[in-house]
Formats: sequence, C-alpha cells, structure tokens
Amino acid sequence: MTQGLAAAGFEEGIGRVTAERPSRPRRPPAESTVIVTGGAGFVGCHVVRELLESGRAKVVVFDLNEPNDEGRFVIGERFGEVVYERGSIDDTARFFDVVRTHRATEIVHLATLINPSVLAANRTTMFRVNIGGVANVLEAAIAFDVERIVNFSSIGILPRVQYEPIDAAHPVFLADSGSGSDFYGCSKVAGEALCFAYQQALGVDFRTIRPSAVYGVGMTPWVGPIKQMVEGSVRGEKLRFEHGGRHPRDYTHASDIGGLVVAMLGAPDDADRIFYGATGRPLVTTTEVARIVMELVPGADIEIGEELTEAEQPIVALRGQLSIENARAQLGWEPRYGSVRDGIGRYSEDYRAFLALQA
Ligand SMILES: NC(=O)c1ccc[n+]([C@@H]2O[C@H](COP(=O)([O-])OP(=O)(O)OC[C@H]3O[C@@H](n4cnc5c(N)ncnc54)[C@H](O)[C@@H]3O)[C@@H](O)[C@H]2O)c1
Repeated sequence: MTQGLAAAGFEEGIGRVTAERPSRPRRPPAESTVIVTGGAGFVGCHVVRELLESGRAKVVVFDLNEPNDEGRFVIGERFGEVVYERGSIDDTARFFDVVRTHRATEIVHLATLINPSVLAANRTTMFRVNIGGVANVLEAAIAFDVERIVNFSSIGILPRVQYEPIDAAHPVFLADSGSGSDFYGCSKVAGEALCFAYQQALGVDFRTIRPSAVYGVGMTPWVGPIKQMVEGSVRGEKLRFEHGGRHPRDYTHASDIGGLVVAMLGAPDDADRIFYGATGRPLVTTTEVARIVMELVPGADIEIGEELTEAEQPIVALRGQLSIENARAQLGWEPRYGSVRDGIGRYSEDYRAFLALQA
C-alpha cells in the first residue's frame, strides 16, 4: 500500500476509503431548501405537499415538465410557493446550476424513466437518466455540500421472495436471477449501490426509500387497475377486467410516501439507510380492491377475473409482505393509510373533489 493511499484512508485488503464527513447537527426544516427531482410527477407532487407542510423554507422542483392539473390539485393552495426549474437530470451542468443557485441543503431524487420496455429499447438513455441521474445527485451533494439525500428506489429491486416479512436485509439477487429482472429494477439496484459507495467512500449522507404500489390522485398506470377502478367508478363507469384478480400488492397511499420522505430527511445519523414505503400489512389482491371500491363508491359496478395473465405470473412470485419495522422504530413513522380501505376512501373523495373543480 502506498503512503498516499494510506493517507487517503484505504484499509489494506479492503480497498475502502474511511474518510467520513464530520457529522453535524440536523438543520431545522425552516432553514432547509430542498430540491425534488421528478417533483412534477405523481409521487413527486405528494412529496412536495408533505415537504411544504413540514415547514421547509423553500421547495424547488427540478423536472422536465411542470405538474398536470391533478398534480396542482394535490399540492393545493400552496402551489404558488413551489419553485419550478425545468431541466433533465442527466444534464450535469444544468442540475449543478440549480443546486448551486438555490443553495440546496437536501435533495429528494425521484426523476426516473419507468416504462421497462422503453428502457429495454433505449438502454443508453436508461444509463444516462436512471443511473447517471443518481450519480449527478450524489456529485452535486459533494460539490455543494448538500446535507442529506433521499433516493427513490422501488420494490422492483426484489427477486423471488426468500422470507417474509421482507426487510431491508432481503437479497436483491439470487444465484439464478436478478433484481426485478428488468431494466427498471436493474437501474434502481445500480442507484442504490452508488449511494452506498458515495456514503462509504466519500461520506455522502443518503437514505433510500423503496415504495410499493403507490396510489392516489394523479397516479401512474403501473399499479394494476386500481386507478381505473376508483376513478372510473367515481365517473359512473361500468368496469370489466378479464384477468388479474389474484394479483397481491402492498398498496401505499402517496401521501404516506411523502410523510416517510420527511421522516427520512430527519432521521438520526445512525438510522438504517433503506426503508420500505409500504403499509407492512398482509398483501391485498385486486379482487379485494374491487370489492372495497364497490362498498365505498355508490353505484360502482366492477367485475374482475381471478386468473393472472402470463406477464403477471412471474411478478407475483416477487411479492411478499414487507416490513416497515425500522421506519416505526427508528423514525417514529406510521402510515396514515395502513388500511387500504381508508386509503381508497380518501382517493375516491379526492378524485371527486378534483372532478368538481374541473367542471
Ligand atoms: N408509482 C409507484 O407505484 C412507484 C413505486 C415504486 C417506486 N416509484 C418511484 O417513485 C418515483 C416517482 O415515480 P412516479 O410514479 O411519480 O412516476 P412519474 O412518471 O409520475 O414521475 C417521474 C417524474 O420524473 C420526471 N422525469 C423523467 N425523466 C426526467 C429527466 N430526465 N429529468 C428530470 N425529470 C425527469 C418526469 O417528468 C416525471 O415528472 C420514481 O423514482 C419511481 O421509480 C414509484
């Protein structure tokens, strides 16, 4: 081992830099400026709302787009307080300009391309946006002394269930198969690995959230038919689904993801690095979701076949009950909508209110 490497903190045989950034007292929210990448999207708008409510001094969104009408509805009357900066997370210069200009103290990173078939066809874009985006966030943290990062991963990193409840120690690779087995899961695992490397080698402080099946107003179409079931029923549509009733998920209301992000930004220094954004309760099937929607939305008329499609069958093998024990014990966090019935009730009421405003 050379003297230079020793001075840099490399431990013989391990090849790891041990230099830690000095830990500093947590800044009160009222003195924090947070940048939310991807903050114009579905989950991002719910996160922005919770950050505003947490009393952050400034909330800046960095996104290719601005929120749609549903996103504006989610953020509510404080929408005008949010600063929107347009840019692409793979453009290092642009992102660094924004972090520097606003003197960000925290970054919540959601900006991602999600569609697995788009990612499989556009792999260079996948590297640049999904993996390079995480690297840009981590580099910005070093360059501009950002105090804490919350990085959005996904339960899409999980392989076949090895034990339940699935906690943060569950493997993401098995001897015969990898994380989520698509480019989305792969890019999320790469992002998680980068976060640990930057933390261990360079002292960048991060927490990773792995959300599960997020629902609520403005939701994206990746969580089975719950969106059509709730929103279609509120609009008075008759809904028929041939397949998918047996598909089980831990449905998590988007406002609870926002609440967990706030709790993670305030985590004690010795808290875990990985938390599931979930309810931690037994999984709920799509048939059960249909039944709850029919109970809660007057006049709802939904039928769904139990069988899974060929595409769904391998995904179901990756799903098991998730553990949120570390979030409870270390962050004092509890989902407000642990009951999916309560969460669907909130979603249908919110969507009705949204439609009334558009009329
Ligand atoms: N919705 C879920 O159920 C769920 C589950 C697990 C994890 N997640 C994660 O949560 C995050 C947000 O997901 P979402 O459901 O809100 O998706 P979304 O598509 O609604 O939001 C993604 C946002 O990222 C922005 N974006 C995309 N490419 C960008 C780029 N190059 N530069 C800047 N911004 C860019 C989009 O414009 C969009 O506003 C993602 O990281 C996703 O992987 C979501």
